Parts: sequence; C-alpha cells; structure tokens
Amino acid sequence: MTAPEEWLSFPDAPRVLHPPPGPRSRELLAAQQKLETDAVVYPRHFPIAIAEARGSTVEDVDGNRYIDWVSGISVLNLGHRHPRVQAAVERQLNRVWHALELPTEARIEFLEELVGSLPGHLRHHAKVLFTVTGGDAVETAVSLAEFARKRKGTVAFSGAYHGVHGGAVNLTSGRKFHETSAFRGGTVVRVPFPDPYRPTLDPDGGCANLLRYLEHLVADPYSGVDGLAAVVVEPILGEGGYVVPPEEFLPSLREFCDRHDLLLIADEIQSGLGRTGKMWAVDHAGVTPDIVCIAKTIGGGIPLSLVAYRDDLVPELPAGFHIGTFRANPLALAAGTEVLRLLKGGDLLERTARRGERTKQRFAELASSHLSIGEVRGRGFMIGVDFVKDAPGRTPWGDRAKAMRRELLHRGVLMHTCGPFDNVLRFMAPLVIEDELLDRGLEVFDASLAALDVPHGRAPPVPRPTAPMAGPGLVRPSGIVPPIHPAPSPAPPGRELP
Ligand SMILES: Cc1ncc(COP(=O)(O)O)c(C=O)c1O
Repeated sequence: MTAPEEWLSFPDAPRVLHPPPGPRSRELLAAQQKLETDAVVYPRHFPIAIAEARGSTVEDVDGNRYIDWVSGISVLNLGHRHPRVQAAVERQLNRVWHALELPTEARIEFLEELVGSLPGHLRHHAKVLFTVTGGDAVETAVSLAEFARKRKGTVAFSGAYHGVHGGAVNLTSGRKFHETSAFRGGTVVRVPFPDPYRPTLDPDGGCANLLRYLEHLVADPYSGVDGLAAVVVEPILGEGGYVVPPEEFLPSLREFCDRHDLLLIADEIQSGLGRTGKMWAVDHAGVTPDIVCIAKTIGGGIPLSLVAYRDDLVPELPAGFHIGTFRANPLALAAGTEVLRLLKGGDLLERTARRGERTKQRFAELASSHLSIGEVRGRGFMIGVDFVKDAPGRTPWGDRAKAMRRELLHRGVLMHTCGPFDNVLRFMAPLVIEDELLDRGLEVFDASLAALDVPHGRAPPVPRPTAPMAGPGLVRPSGIVPPIHPAPSPAPPGRELP
C-alpha cells in the first residue's frame, strides 16, 4: 500500500458526491454551450466541469473525484501536473515564453534529450522539425517524404487516424508553400490494416496477403498507382480500435519500403512515449522508421509536436519548408525535457509493461464471464476492450461500449471509446497511476459490466441500489466500489446477449 502522502493523485478517488453532472457542472456546461460551438465533442461524453487535476485523478466543480483512464487521450502519460514537470515549467515561466525559432537553453536541452531517445538508429542520425499539433506533424512528415523522394503518393491504412489538417495551405497563396505541401495533389492509397480479430485480406490473422497486395501496387505497372513516396502507419491503431497487428507486420513493412525505396513514417502520436511499455511502439518490433511523428505526451499537457527524420533523407531542406508561429513553445520544451527524463530514468517503462500485462489479464478475466466482450487486446497501458453483439460473429456493439462509458462515469471512472463503431473501451491510464487506484478502477469496471450485462454463468444483477452518497472528504478504503446514483444509462438491466 502506498502512503497517501506519496501519491500524485487524490487518494480518495473515486468519490461521487453528486450524480454527474452535479449542479455547478450543469451551470458551466450551460455557459459553455451558450458561448462555444456545438462542435465540441468531449463534454457530450463526459458532462462534467473540471476544477482540479492531480496525477491520475480529476476533481469536478461539484467535488466529485474521478479516476482518469483517459489521460487527455494519451497526453498525460506522466499524469496531471507531475511535480517534476510542473517545477520545470515554473522555472521556464521566469525566463522566456515565446522565442520563435531562436535557440534557448530549454530548446537545446530538449533536442538533446529527444534525439537520444528516438527509436533504433534514428537516435544517432536524426534531425528534428517542430510542429504544433499531431495532425500538423503527420502532414509535415508526408510533405517531407514526398520532397525527399520527388514523388507524390502515400500508402495509409483503414482505421488510421492521423488528424484533420490539410486544407489551409490550399487557401494560402504563396507558390513556395504549395510546392512543399504533400496535400496539394498528392494521392493516398488506402489498404486494410492487418487486424487479427476482424481480418480482411488475411483470414489467418497474419499479413502475407496484405504484403502481396502492396507488392502488386508498386510492382505492377497496371496497378493504377503511380510513384509512391511513403507508407504512414500507426504501430498500434489508436482511434481505429487499439488493434495490435501481427508481429511480422512492421518488420515486413520495413522490408517492403526498403525494397521499393519508400519511406516508412511511424505515427507514434498516441502509441509513443512509454504508452505501450517501451519508449516507442515500434521498439517492440525492433523496427526503425525513416520518419517518426511525435505529439501528445511530449509536451506533458502543453501543446508541442514534431517530426524526427533520418538526417540523410534530404541534403538540405529549404528555409521555411514548413512553418508555424507557435512551434516549440519554450514552456512546452521545458516540460518535454522533464517528461523524457522521467520516462527514461528509473523503471517506469518496465513497470508499465508488467502492470499492463496484469491489467490486460484482469480485463480478460472479467470478459470471460461477459459475452458482451469479444476481445481484450493491447500492449502496456494501451488496452482495448472490444464489445460485440454476438461473440461468434464479432459484430461491434458500440451502444454497449458507450453505455459502459456512462456507467463508469457515474461510478467515478473516466474511460473513453474508440474503434470504427465506438465499440472499444480503451484503457489509457497515466503510467504513474498508483496500484490501489488501478485496482479500484478495475473493481468499478467489473461492477459497471455487471450492472449492464447478465454475467455469463452468474446470477442476474440486483436492481440498482439507491444507496446514500458518500460524504464529502470520505476516503474510500481500497476495494470498495462507490455507491451508484440514479441510473445513467437507459440500458435495460439484465438484458442478455442474443
Ligand atoms: C495516432 C494519431 N495521430 C495523429 C493524431 C492527431 O493529433 P492532434 O489531435 O494533436 O492533431 C492523433 C490524435 O488523436 C492520433 O491519435
């Protein structure tokens, strides 16, 4: 048991005092709705207003405390406000906040720390190009690959998510910007991602047919595809459903790219920086990409992204090849240096691999008594729980995953969906989560499943209790699931699967 004073998190989470959204959250949500676009997404899924966050927990404005298994979508691998990251940002606050591209000590420290952490031999031969968002980094990576190879065209996968940029440069009038952007006239060739659970080209769950198809695209002069420059891949599909490809996939793709002089771009924006129990998800396959896209956790919660590329790809990039006012913000760089040091120092990565394996095992045990879960998969702290209507048919059951998200919220755990039908609940807790909080979250998950399903081989659930709420400041002993508040989900209790 960790002593509470050593905790990064609120030790008494989950603590639900008011069914979310509580009264103050309602007021702030209404104010937001009045002033901000309807296009916001997360307040629909997590209708709470945040007062404070610590470690692996957040407190809403009504005093509810949640275990955070969303981590800002893998932005907070070191948790909220890690004391060492916060101290680094506070030091930088007294120096400089914006410096364009001029060197600062913060910038050089970050670059040295980053390059020394890159996958494989990239760490000995890399250049860095800063961007602002993840989408910006991916666009820049593709532009760079096309510029380096003097060809236009990229292979991308079904289920991929790489961001939503790509239009602004078409409105910008300078020819020089048009010439260096891949998104003016470049083609995208889409091929299936090898998904062992729902295979398309390879019914055995491998990727031999996929590789044969890629070979055909490049080698057959009548394939209809001309002059490709690159393949862009997420080593584990993120938004696409936490799909782990077969082991031979990345090495085969590397070999395919080498054979045809295509550049391999790894989008490590969600899977990188310790999330899978290694620094980079490609490290599991021992593959070095030519270009790697990095964002999310790299700024510790402050926007920062970049592309790192082999320094021999192009002899020299023209000045202004890719630009943007807010790139490499000094506060983000100071945070990033500390993030990298925390990930590399100590045994955080090994612990994440070990605890991730145990956590996946726990989810799998829970799944074995619930027909609504078709598969549990993942690596490290990137675990997907795939909900299905029918286990043999593997038909995605998005409504059940979304009902679980609501149920979990009401019990004090934040967990988000992904997958093409929103049918996968993803576990992406901060890597620093305390063991007790991890266990409590799993108990809440179990109780939520039981509230929605008739567990396979278990008695039907009792009707939802209307137990009194926990009192303010109540420290819930480990192992006690918080009381349930008025039913959040319209899902009929006890409905069993077809
Ligand atoms: C793998 C991957 N690439 C790119 C992006 C886009 O990043 P951003 O939202 O910062 O533009 C995301 C965002 O979730 C992502 O998961």
